[in-house]
Amino acid sequence: MSERFDTAAKKWDEKPRRIELAKKVCAAIKERVKIDRNSRLTDFGTGTGLILLGLSDIAGSLTGLDFSKGMLDVLREKAKAAGIDITTREFDIEKDDFEPEGADIITASMVTHHLKHPEKLFNKAYKGLSNGGYLCVSDLCEEGGDFHDNHSEVHHHGFSMALVRELFEKAGFKDVVIANAAEIKKERGGVVTAYPVFLATGVK
Ligand SMILES: C[S@@+](CC[C@H](N)C(=O)[O-])C[C@H]1O[C@@H](n2cnc3c(N)ncnc32)[C@H](O)[C@@H]1O
Repeated sequence: MSERFDTAAKKWDEKPRRIELAKKVCAAIKERVKIDRNSRLTDFGTGTGLILLGLSDIAGSLTGLDFSKGMLDVLREKAKAAGIDITTREFDIEKDDFEPEGADIITASMVTHHLKHPEKLFNKAYKGLSNGGYLCVSDLCEEGGDFHDNHSEVHHHGFSMALVRELFEKAGFKDVVIANAAEIKKERGGVVTAYPVFLATGVK
């Protein structure tokens, strides 16, 4: 469970910048990774499913994992309303075990900076993917620490591209590709700050 995300869940999708970001990340994933109706897709830290549901038009099966029941409740309501078949599970990336070779594609967007030990996500994803499967991680590029107004459960101020590559390669991934996929603009007191977001992919 997560107090921060359980509380935020119901109003999560009300911020247009979150919807815009997810659309851009999904478009970048579709461009770079082969996903088809045979692909079992699992989204780590799925939240309200902006990425999971955004890839529902091409993937085979869809599984959303998150440690926030509030977020999963919203995702289940959205999927039901849209008639999209999904599986959901309360799952803590840092604590719970993921079934070996249980997915062909694993996505994780804007969740890595909330993990104390991001290497756990990469190691778990590696074991959890079938051979030839893809891990797709998107998150903030290194920022000065002013992205979040609420710092609870924030453990990293974005990531350098060198660290992202190291996390992929140390877990065993090959063919690692890292590129900017979007930027998030935040306006405070009339000043707009842009925070770049990367999409990194690696193959098992
Ligand atoms: C910033 S939101 C991003 C949600 C979604 N991936 C998206 O792109 O819209 C981060 C999500 O990660 C989840 N999360 C954070 N730490 C987690 C952990 N240790 N295990 C599972 N989920 C986690 C939160 O509950 C939240 O839903």
